[in-house]
Amino acid sequence: MGREITITALKYNPSDKNSKPTFAEYKLEETPGMTLYIALTKIKSTIDHDLSSDFVCRAGICGACGMIINGKPRLACKTLTSEFEDGKIKLLPLPTFKLIKDLSVDSGTWMKNMSLRVNSWIVANEETDISKVEKPIEPEVAQEVFELDRCIECGLCVASCSTAIMREDFVGAVGLNRVARFQIDPHDTRTDEDFYELIGDDDGIFGCMSLLACEDHCPKELSLQSKIAYMRRKMVKA
Ligand code: SF4
Ligand code: FES
Repeated sequence: MGREITITALKYNPSDKNSKPTFAEYKLEETPGMTLYIALTKIKSTIDHDLSSDFVCRAGICGACGMIINGKPRLACKTLTSEFEDGKIKLLPLPTFKLIKDLSVDSGTWMKNMSLRVNSWIVANEETDISKVEKPIEPEVAQEVFELDRCIECGLCVASCSTAIMREDFVGAVGLNRVARFQIDPHDTRTDEDFYELIGDDDGIFGCMSLLACEDHCPKELSLQSKIAYMRRKMVKA
């Protein structure tokens, strides 16, 4: 028989005018290898069918299950309940994003707006001929692009970021990482001046205060601060 754990979660539905923010407490038996994904699924199926939270992949890939877990932004599907020695776990929705209900937030609209703001796609000044083999790039450069492409848009870096909380339009580490990804990709023909037009302001590269929380909480361990510093140097020169 496993130990009893206590999970406390915010309950609030902003679209229901009668709803008031409260905390609900759930007690359940811990099972071997239990993640917060498993615990929340158990709560939802056996204790409280009304509790809302988001999951898709259960494997740290889709980025849907970000939440504040005992004060830190983390992925619920990659967090073991056994990490918490006293068995007490408090859950809050990620800040910065629009609250849908309880632990569920709308990070998709935020990510879409960020992608549009930083023009998150390859821009080339020549027509692509899809009947030809793609232009090769150096393996080290390809590796660097693939590394930055590992971002899963979970939004933990945004939820950790003081600038993102203060500035609604700040593109966050996720947006700056995206720009760096296209800046180093030789398929993209934009110049540093073009990128400056997109992020050369306080809602872009000059809004970052280098507090490092984005990198501390990124579940993919992307080196966000070094990429932000790299882009800042490029933008100052531009
Ligand atoms: S940079 Fe890291 S923390 Fe930010 S959205 Fe991408 S994977 Fe998540
Ligand atoms: S459910 Fe996909 S990252 Fe957690």
